[in-house]
Amino acid sequence: MDSFVIRGGRSLHGTVEISGAKNAALPIFCVSLLAEGVHFFRNVPRLNDIDTIVELVRYLGAEVEGEAPVLRVATDRLHRFDAPYEHVKKMRASVLALGPLLARFGEARVSLPGGCAIGARPIDQHLKGFEALGAQVTIEHGYVVAKAQRLRGAEIVFDLPTVGGTENIMMAAALADGRTTLLNCAREPEVEELARVLNKMGANVVGAGTDTIHIEGVREMRPVDHAIIPDRIEAGTYMVAAAITGGDVLLHNCRLDHMESVAAKLVQAGASVTAEGQGVRVRAKAPFRACDATTMPYPGFPTDMQAQFMVLMCLAKGESVITETVFENRFMHVPELARMGADIEIRGRAAVVRGVPKLSAATVMCSDLRASAALAIAGLVAEGETRLLRVYHIDRGYEDIVAKLAGLGADVERVRGDA
Ligand code: EPZ
Repeated sequence: MDSFVIRGGRSLHGTVEISGAKNAALPIFCVSLLAEGVHFFRNVPRLNDIDTIVELVRYLGAEVEGEAPVLRVATDRLHRFDAPYEHVKKMRASVLALGPLLARFGEARVSLPGGCAIGARPIDQHLKGFEALGAQVTIEHGYVVAKAQRLRGAEIVFDLPTVGGTENIMMAAALADGRTTLLNCAREPEVEELARVLNKMGANVVGAGTDTIHIEGVREMRPVDHAIIPDRIEAGTYMVAAAITGGDVLLHNCRLDHMESVAAKLVQAGASVTAEGQGVRVRAKAPFRACDATTMPYPGFPTDMQAQFMVLMCLAKGESVITETVFENRFMHVPELARMGADIEIRGRAAVVRGVPKLSAATVMCSDLRASAALAIAGLVAEGETRLLRVYHIDRGYEDIVAKLAGLGADVERVRGDA
């Protein structure tokens, strides 16, 4: 297993290129299953999670050629409609194949995703949606088995704004008979992006990006050629890294309009965040102001930025309260930050962060994707040499993070196969 060694104390300067969005690319590979033909996906990030979804669509019978950032996906010889445990256990987003397979083939058998480090993460809202569209849904031997002669439009009210639920049902409803109305939907830019791709394929989706989406089902869809939006969470991560090191960084190919809540929090903490050309410039100098943050569905402060922002608050002047409302177990980074000298007290779903003058380097363990990114940021400012273990968590969602950070002047290296 690889690890990272980070020697702290350098401020980040220069330009970093933001990659395509992981959480947009994953459902987009699944949406290709809805239509026969040859699709082209561009600005695809080079990530382990992308390799996993490519493996799944290949297993279903798709031919995938090329390599990120441009992939050619031919879906005219799909011959399976199941996503085995082996795939889903590696990446729960594989469950997003369920909607397209059910809609196109009238049946799908997908391993029920288990819990993960950040929470139980049930898919009850997905299953409720498929049943409302007329599918028979059963759980057999750890698999969701869904069958429907033909899906039919329905009105579905989500109990909570679920990103995956909105995406899965939107894809299924695209080929259903009649009109579907989704209420209390997720409004994330990745949901809007998926609707954009669906409409380019001939679907009729209106309202994505709001809490109400209308879908007029169509008989068939066509292949698509699409360039994926930039990754707002990767961008947010580099913004915090730039600020906390007292740097000056231009993030190229980054959409500020997708990150208003993150930018606002950084400005509140004392950083300057400005749009510049095709990107965003972040500049900052300590001391940072303590400020509270509460994670919420979009357009609220993203849960995927909670850990990274917490590191900044570890060095802020004063006390801040960070409340995690989306996932029930997303403070795995806290004990590791404490090993680096942070002063954080967990009270239920809130973490009380008391700013300290400095962090000190230590060997720390990655537990999930965003917690790992937060520990890497802590390593950039900690005094001494930090070792980050189990960085495979980071490789799932950050393209070339070592090269990108080193390109901004960080002293960081990957140690291959470090026991
Ligand atoms: C997506 O996960 C993202 N993953 C997550 O990013 C992100 O944290 C999350 O949305 C929230 O923004 C991808 O897009 C691949 P949800 P998803 O359904 O779709 C509960 C990262 O770091 N819920 O919006 O799984 C659920 O347990 C990852 O890149 C139900 O109760 O998130 C959670 O508490 C981590 N029943 C909340 O809703 C359901 O049927 C939000 O989950 C579905 C969800």
